[in-house]
Amino acid sequence: MQSRQSKIITNATSYFMSQYTKHYLHVEKPSLGLPPPPENKKYLLYIHVPFCTMFCPYCSFNKFTYTKEAALIYYRHLREEILHVKELGYDFNYLVIGGGTPLIDEEELITTIELVRKLFSIEHVSCESDPNHINPKTVLQLDGLVDRLSIGVQTFDDTLLKKLGRYEKFGSGEEVYAKIASMLGILPITSVDLIFNFPTQTEEGLIHDLETLKKLSPEQTSVYPLMTSSLVKNSVKKTLGEFSLENEFTFFSTIKKSLKELYPARHGWSFSKESDLIIDEYIIDNEEYVGVGSGSFSFLKDTLYLNEFALDKYATLIQEKSSAITKERTFPANSQMYYRLMVDLFNGTLSKKKFTAMFGQSINDTLGKELMLLKFAKAIKENKENITTTDYGDYLFLVMMKEFYMGMDRIRNEARKNLIL
Ligand SMILES: C[S@@+](CC[C@H](N)C(=O)[O-])C[C@H]1O[C@@H](n2cnc3c(N)ncnc32)[C@H](O)[C@@H]1O
Ligand code: SF4
Repeated sequence: MQSRQSKIITNATSYFMSQYTKHYLHVEKPSLGLPPPPENKKYLLYIHVPFCTMFCPYCSFNKFTYTKEAALIYYRHLREEILHVKELGYDFNYLVIGGGTPLIDEEELITTIELVRKLFSIEHVSCESDPNHINPKTVLQLDGLVDRLSIGVQTFDDTLLKKLGRYEKFGSGEEVYAKIASMLGILPITSVDLIFNFPTQTEEGLIHDLETLKKLSPEQTSVYPLMTSSLVKNSVKKTLGEFSLENEFTFFSTIKKSLKELYPARHGWSFSKESDLIIDEYIIDNEEYVGVGSGSFSFLKDTLYLNEFALDKYATLIQEKSSAITKERTFPANSQMYYRLMVDLFNGTLSKKKFTAMFGQSINDTLGKELMLLKFAKAIKENKENITTTDYGDYLFLVMMKEFYMGMDRIRNEARKNLIL
């Protein structure tokens, strides 16, 4: 149970973060595109594949109804955009492919990964999938191309799956379990995505999901708290019921306790059997990245760049100038320091040395007041080298990260106005 005092601190933090993201997370300035990169630097490349055969009520990612023809045109343009980034001089060691449903057209996906591997110094490839595109024959084709496949399961509970519309599309909890069991071990890492704190979800329901996950035993898992930005609030309410934060703290503690033994390495809401295997969300883990595809983001130095969201406009922009970046926002130094504090402590540890190397000033000199408040809230501990989170701090930084994600949804909301899906 969360104490009254920690509830007050959590609510205040959540409010502060939402005000903060409202203030900072706007991307309005027209952009001329990505700057040339510095020499010898390797970045993360994110590819967005915005097609789905169904739309889940909680999902705010940029997506459109799949047709074979639209996907073929899209993948062709995507490869043009990738070649353009190569011409600008960028190099990448990480490739993350997300969606939507990247494997919706596996041949096009494979051609695209092969191109990226040929053009850049890629060391790791991570790709998302729904449970319908993971039969062993398909996954075997990815062997040697993809190191990590993360599969959206969300829950093994049939009642919830029916409400989400996923039961009809992807099968019952048992069927999804069997599909994953049949492909485990083909690729170096399989990760399972779950969501917790769905309206009507009980502690017993959550424990059942966690026990099923552990029995399946993939190398990694991400267990996301349900995020209900304004983009999805109404559809969540209509399909699942009224959303509440009442159980979130208790459920997160249950998850940490339940997964601790099998998955000792934790990065925020991602858990791994081995600590060096974690490849997390590109927005969270990487200081700088380039995004290609409709509705992707790039972050370089101090600037966030936004790609066009609409498919027809994306196609026109690529045909005209091989780049789909339309807007950008440069962030002031203090907001970057806050971001670093949030991201590193979401992952459990902030290295003081790394902070000083990044900003040229020590964290105690620049964010001393913030650290004092976090200590007062019993959210962090400090020694000479590092700042680390307490159990309550783990939750508080999850709350902050959730608010940050929902702030990014505000940008998506703005960009998706008037789109035909
Ligand atoms: C963009 S989805 C792609 C996954 C794939 N298309 C599928 O449905 O299985 C990646 C993951 O983000 C997570 N996700 C999406 N919307 C979310 C939300 N509102 N709250 C929490 N997690 C969410 C889900 O766990 C999902 O599997
Ligand atoms: S969760 Fe996956 S299938 Fe559902 S709408 Fe989002 S991207 Fe599409």
